[in-house]
Amino acid sequence: MARVARSSIGASFWALPSALRPLLRSASAVRVARCTYSQEVSPPQLTIADQDYPKDSWTNVPASILSQYGRSLHTEPNHPLSITRKLIESRFQNFRHHNDLPGVVTVHQNFDSLGFTPDHPGRNRTDTYYINKDTLLRTHTSAHEVDIFHANTSDGWTLSADVYRRDAVDRSHYPIFHQMEGALTWDRSQYATPGACTEAIRQSFNHLPKHDLVVEDPNPTFHPERNPRQESHHSAAETEIIAAHLKRSLEDMVVTIFTAADKALAASGQNAAESKEPLKVRWVEAFFPHTSPSWEMEVWWRGTWLEVLGCGVIQQDLLIRAEQPNRIGWAFGLGLERLAMLLFGIPDIRLFWSRDARFLRQFDEEKGLRRFMPYSKHPAAPRDVAFWLPRGAEAEGETVIAGTEASTSSAPNAAGGRLAEPSVDTSTHPIFHENDLMEIVRNIAGDGVEDVRLIDDFVHKKKGRRSLCYRIEYRSLERTMTAEEVNGMHEKVCRELVEKFGVEIR
Ligand code: PHE
Repeated sequence: MARVARSSIGASFWALPSALRPLLRSASAVRVARCTYSQEVSPPQLTIADQDYPKDSWTNVPASILSQYGRSLHTEPNHPLSITRKLIESRFQNFRHHNDLPGVVTVHQNFDSLGFTPDHPGRNRTDTYYINKDTLLRTHTSAHEVDIFHANTSDGWTLSADVYRRDAVDRSHYPIFHQMEGALTWDRSQYATPGACTEAIRQSFNHLPKHDLVVEDPNPTFHPERNPRQESHHSAAETEIIAAHLKRSLEDMVVTIFTAADKALAASGQNAAESKEPLKVRWVEAFFPHTSPSWEMEVWWRGTWLEVLGCGVIQQDLLIRAEQPNRIGWAFGLGLERLAMLLFGIPDIRLFWSRDARFLRQFDEEKGLRRFMPYSKHPAAPRDVAFWLPRGAEAEGETVIAGTEASTSSAPNAAGGRLAEPSVDTSTHPIFHENDLMEIVRNIAGDGVEDVRLIDDFVHKKKGRRSLCYRIEYRSLERTMTAEEVNGMHEKVCRELVEKFGVEIR
């Protein structure tokens, strides 16, 4: 791959004045060609957890991802993600908790089984890690819904697992994170009439714990255009009570989590004035292919609304596909990192992956929650990379640059889909996408990069070309990096951008 070409160019290339670089560029192009040849002789398969998968033009899983595959942080004893998972599970009693489903799933499981349309942007190679055209690393835990409903071993279940998305680089995004899916269904055929089933759900609702949380829920439970009820499957009364049951259950879970966070904060003496504000949540109308009506829950935390989870009334077609046509119910999906970061005061998502004892030994599930105590702060090393996109790329209107707006939310959103993006097949025409830069930087700097953001974007009218400038903050959580080390990594990033996307460094 281009990796080979990278190391074959002298490290001094980027130290040359820019006027001289074009002279060498042709030489590097030759090496790129040679490297394509070496790709042809590279193994035609990917091996993941001792299983071989044939590669094809869809394959885009980098080695950096494979090396982290299967770490199962959410089940590692005393790991903050595992403690968070258990705390949430404790609020779903009588549920079955699934925690060991492997991350390789079919495209069918991840998208089709949930009713994702063929052109859904979540399917793009820019957003999703494909093993090959039929197989991928799950982008969300919903990928297992149909199978779990089909097996039908419990009315209620949760499923926690690692999920994979090509995404931004910053302190709250990492290409692997953990989600918990949860669902509860009732079997109409167990009741004499549909009304009796509705009544049973109401009884169950009446037994849910009450809370004193401030809840903003300004919209009607369903709305014909914005958030429809599944009229051909559910009565208005069924939809109402399932929605009420869902919302109350999740509000209770949030109260538990945030009360625990507040206690830990008080115990550490860090109980700032803002944490004394009453806990508040709000329900926002949403869209997911596999639920309707759907919502996102946001929590008011230190002056901002945080998206915490997505949920809704399960699409009946999905339950029919799972051969459970008589079951009706709700489902939710949440990101464990975001909650764990709040719960423990963990400031950087990379810390979850740390093998450093100074991090790991701070957490002990027997001893109750304790706030994370930062053990070091090493200096950041910012470096900018400014480049012209290849001529004509912007004229075709095809170049995809993810808006920084869209990349700032770490919510467990519709499986990586940003609805406004066109679908681009980078297998035949490598067009620059911001996520490609993110991946190049991650592959080269590993966990030594903290943040990558667009700081300048303009079109030179006369030249008719578009220029982008990104600021890359290199910083290790574990040690101070030397300037030479950072420069070396940054040169490699620049070089790979040129080789892979034909950009011209300014
Ligand atoms: N799978 C959704 C996501 O990752 C979250 C979700 C799960 C929404 C279950 C509704 C029901 O964005």
